[in-house]
Amino acid sequence: MYKHAGAGWSIRPFTRNDRIACLHIFRDSLRAFPWRGDWQAYLPVLQNAFASARVLVAQEPSSGVIGFLTFKMATGYVDHLFVHNDWRLCGVGRGLLEVARQETGVPLSLDVDMQNVSARKAYEALGWKVGAKTGKAKADQIRLIGP
Ligand SMILES: CC(C)(COP(=O)(O)OP(=O)(O)OC[C@H]1O[C@@H](n2cnc3c(N)ncnc32)[C@H](O)[C@@H]1OP(=O)(O)O)[C@@H](O)C(=O)NCCC(=O)NCCS
Repeated sequence: MYKHAGAGWSIRPFTRNDRIACLHIFRDSLRAFPWRGDWQAYLPVLQNAFASARVLVAQEPSSGVIGFLTFKMATGYVDHLFVHNDWRLCGVGRGLLEVARQETGVPLSLDVDMQNVSARKAYEALGWKVGAKTGKAKADQIRLIGP
């Protein structure tokens, strides 16, 4: 589906066998977000996304799954984007977003926590802009629209 020629990782659709690896990346990422509280509170939403959303994973031959993204094909809304801590700043997030963008054919959107400064910097570097809030948007999140 997509292969990073230099780094060796590739992006492909999620399968049931990827579930545990994705959960570990999700857990470890959320544990680094003290403002979020218990990471397990967010599991039902993730499990629902695995069942009903389009899910892409990034895989590296020796490390296995190193990141994943869930999004709604019809709207381009990204529910989850998580890259393993050891693989950040390697272009994996960019690659996942680019494949999702190609698949939807519409600009992607997402909500990022105000406190999530690292992710906000990443989206800024990727050319994302602040979009209009909808009725659903939470006060402590920012709606961003991709290029
Ligand atoms: C946010 C996240 C998905 C970014 O993924 P990533 O694979 O590290 O991002 P990339 O390597 O593709 O970087 C994309 C661009 O963002 C920049 N960037 C990434 N993280 C950055 C940071 N912490 N500070 C500044 N710039 C950053 C990169 O330099 C790159 O820009 P460049 O191409 O101009 O150099 C990843 O940090 C992550 O999983 N964070 C924890 C979970 C999370 O916050 N998810 C987002 C929820 S909305």
